[in-house]
Amino acid sequence: GRMKVVVTRDLGPDAMPLLRERKELDLVVWSENRACERAWLLEQIPGAAGVLLMLADKVNEELLDKGFLKVVSTMSVGYEHVDLPLLAKRGVRLGYTPDVLTDAVADVTVMLALMASRNAKETAGVIDRGEWPNSTWSPFIFCGPQLSRTPPIQTRTAGFLGFGRIAQATLRRLVPFGFTHCVYVANPSTVPNPVQDAAYTKQFNLQSVRRVDIDTLASASDVVFVLAPGGDKTRHLVNEAFLRKMKKTAVLVNTARGTLVDSDALAKALKEGWIWAAGLDVVEGEPNVTVDHPLVKEPRCVMLPHIGSATFDTRLSMAACAARNTLAGVFGETMQAELELKGTA
Ligand code: GLV
Ligand code: GLV
Repeated sequence: GRMKVVVTRDLGPDAMPLLRERKELDLVVWSENRACERAWLLEQIPGAAGVLLMLADKVNEELLDKGFLKVVSTMSVGYEHVDLPLLAKRGVRLGYTPDVLTDAVADVTVMLALMASRNAKETAGVIDRGEWPNSTWSPFIFCGPQLSRTPPIQTRTAGFLGFGRIAQATLRRLVPFGFTHCVYVANPSTVPNPVQDAAYTKQFNLQSVRRVDIDTLASASDVVFVLAPGGDKTRHLVNEAFLRKMKKTAVLVNTARGTLVDSDALAKALKEGWIWAAGLDVVEGEPNVTVDHPLVKEPRCVMLPHIGSATFDTRLSMAACAARNTLAGVFGETMQAELELKGTA
């Protein structure tokens, strides 16, 4: 029989043909160049076998009650917008888009570490505001800590809150910068894992890679990279206590989810000089961030509007992955990337 599939954005030149060439699909697409309206989405769900949607589209009881979906396919690696236990209970499969965005996000992660260390916000602003002629050169004007070092002159420690695909891709990029050590927190568990850590140490060609507790992560790192999933379990892991334990010369980079970092505590840390700087691609309450936001006002906080995966290659791949996941879901086949829902109900 025919299968109705609802899509909440125009997915571009790779993904749309994948869907359109399947003649047994009745495709319904929100094709306006703005976020899909909730009322429209809810209206379309009755009779649909699959829905392909974005981070902004909440998958909750309100939506799932409207019909009998076989699959929800999200064009994102994150899934905080999806009620996993409810999906598991209803037997709805969930597709997502890991892997294809790993390199793009790791690139932005390193970029933010460099931008934050080297005062990119303040110094680019000098040009934008026409202030260069008044910024008389002096030996230490605009200086910041140096991210790269040639060992063995100095040891450098990269810290990761979360040590999944993107964290490890970031660490690979940091090895040529002269980082010598890595500490990480994976899951809330802090059980030492010497066998795994010995393997990581060899794999990344560092002097050491160690799983540590969160306090050690804070105090040992020259850069802390926040790369754990969002959600209630990881909310405000970077709080005032964490920031107070960090080195005064250290940089905090968050390319994961805004909810992991307490924004008020971070603003205080920057204002009072507990840490050197921060680079954020995500922030609590986004996208409702205005020039009055305490972090926007901090010269040492460089912020980007959630562009981690925003390269043409990666977004085309994410869209195609989401389209394939949708097709696999409605036809009962193997997805390119399916989230295991067992154990969430
Ligand atoms: C982006 O934040 C994503 O989850 O893909
Ligand atoms: C920098 O431009 C230098 O010449 O040292």
